[in-house]
Amino acid sequence: MAIVGATGAVGTRMIKMVEESKLHVKSVKMLASKRSAGTKVKYNGEELTVEETTPDSFDGIDLALFSVGGSVSKKFAPEAVKRGAVVIDNTSAFRMDPDVPLVVPEVNSEALKEHHGIIANPNCSTIQMVMALEPIREKYGLSRVIVTTLQAVSGAGNRATQELLDESRASLDGKEYKPEVLPVKGDKKHYQQAFNVLPQIDVFEEDGYTHEEWKMIHETKKIMCGGDMNSDDIQVTATCSRVPVPVAHSESVYFDVLDKNATVEGIRDAIRNFDGDILQDDPDNQIYPQPINAEGKKDTFVGRIRPDQENKGSFHLWNVSDNLLKGAAWNSVEIAEYLDEMDLLRV
Ligand code: A2P
Repeated sequence: MAIVGATGAVGTRMIKMVEESKLHVKSVKMLASKRSAGTKVKYNGEELTVEETTPDSFDGIDLALFSVGGSVSKKFAPEAVKRGAVVIDNTSAFRMDPDVPLVVPEVNSEALKEHHGIIANPNCSTIQMVMALEPIREKYGLSRVIVTTLQAVSGAGNRATQELLDESRASLDGKEYKPEVLPVKGDKKHYQQAFNVLPQIDVFEEDGYTHEEWKMIHETKKIMCGGDMNSDDIQVTATCSRVPVPVAHSESVYFDVLDKNATVEGIRDAIRNFDGDILQDDPDNQIYPQPINAEGKKDTFVGRIRPDQENKGSFHLWNVSDNLLKGAAWNSVEIAEYLDEMDLLRV
């Protein structure tokens, strides 16, 4: 197999997830850009040399996990498939392509059967939200979702995390710091993230929504409504913000269920019994999900479940998950495990 982007924030976690996985891996090729060719990364205690990614890097590869920029995926993923590899891509490059399944294995693994070589890993904030909502949808039906995210800086890559740390130190020392990465590396302006909240993730698009917000809307529908990114079976709207947290996103989710007899205890039970979710919901003992406790874990943590006092069938929940693991590296490796189990690890 190959890991493309093996030196990045997600790529380094992918290596760890592959080490811990059930996959029968013969060898792993570590790929990145020319910049880091020749550097070493560790895999199962062994030092492996990072190579520059070229089309020929994929000769003899059965499975390629990509975590690079969208333009790099667009260039190399089809080359990998041409050479017989199944690609699991972590960027938004192919997510809305009707021929590309967008998969969270616990929610829609059946969609894997339709793959033609490329499988897309959803956006991190979408993954943890559908993980929290799917058991509720299965039990009570779901008609509307309103989400506000509080996202960690590592979602914007290693440079963004470094910027938050340097900026925090500079701010405490009363020194000047000129941000160059956040909120969006390629955008016109950069703002201080340390001790601040930025209501912008990714660039602005139509109707005043950011690309991240549109991703949450369309990806949630594609995953939960049988592949239809424009379905109106579930209404979804989102506000995405970045908070000064290194790892693990939090989300405040307000939702309407179809079954108006749904109860908080029933929702708790559904979440408790869903693979990959952990219920942390005990207000009397101040138990609720928090980013610092979720970092390094593969699960989605759910709590603060409570009813809207004025609208029957409407509820709030709070969910937290490691954006680099279930939100990215672990979900990708888990897709690979499902493909293997379903005998679909071939083009
Ligand atoms: P490199 O370390 O050589 O720049 P992050 O999300 O943390 O910014 O990481 C991005 C990952 O994508 C890194 O591993 C980076 O490698 C890799 N990458 C960036 N550009 C390319 C490219 N043109 N070809 C292959 N890998 C790339």
